Amino acid sequence: MKGVILAGGLGTRLLPMTRVTNKHLLPVYDRPMIYYPVQQLVHAGVMDILIVTGGNNAGDFLRLLGNGRAFGLKHLNYTYQEGEGGIAEALGLAEHFAEGQPVVVILGDNIFQDPIADAVLRFRHQGSGAKILLKEVEDAQRFGVVELDGDRVVRIVEKPKNPPSRYAVTGCYMYDHRVFEIVRTLKPSERGELEITDVNNRFIEWREMTYEILEGWWTDAGTVSSLYRAASLVAESPGEPVLRPSTMEVGRQGEAAS
Ligand code: G1P
Repeated sequence: MKGVILAGGLGTRLLPMTRVTNKHLLPVYDRPMIYYPVQQLVHAGVMDILIVTGGNNAGDFLRLLGNGRAFGLKHLNYTYQEGEGGIAEALGLAEHFAEGQPVVVILGDNIFQDPIADAVLRFRHQGSGAKILLKEVEDAQRFGVVELDGDRVVRIVEKPKNPPSRYAVTGCYMYDHRVFEIVRTLKPSERGELEITDVNNRFIEWREMTYEILEGWWTDAGTVSSLYRAASLVAESPGEPVLRPSTMEVGRQGEAAS
């Protein structure tokens, strides 16, 4: 199982904060946003991680994260997305890295209160297909939203005016290697991007999509209000295993040693 963190895009919804830096390098409470998905993957035992970045400040990821020593990693992989082709296009850049293995993908601006480790384990046991993580939200029209029929996901609608349920599709996805074949067949959406929702709908059509509903809080941090909310939620959750600054203390020791 390999990990992919998607941290490209221009972060236009956060201008002017993103004028001179990448969204995922902005602080969320006490650390840069990108730390949270890295901590999640490492906590889940996914140690082979690719960061897909883009824009003008891609070099800053390397300066910040290096080989991931602050997280107990020996090595981190990076690749670069040119332009604004969408989440699914960014994921397509991970094909070479994945080497036929399944991948767990996290959007770099998504923060989860609870560890994803158990869901990752259940996906490993699932063996093939895909898994998404859902969260009940008040403002479902901001997200991809599922239509459910009992235990089955019928379809996902991206940013629906009339959401078919209150369950948003969070930015953590698990796929077998066929995800890259799917990406190659996608056509750009109305916003000119290859949509991750189209990828997920393909696995749903194949009846190979499972889902889990998250208990703990979840937020993205891609707008001014959600960035503020993310910082507040982290500040109020000091004991959570994947939010504790323990890995950062390792980082500080690392810095002291160098
Ligand atoms: C993306 C996905 C959407 C998902 C959301 C989670 O939206 O397209 O399906 O619910 O991430 O953060 P975006 O933030 O790119 O608008």
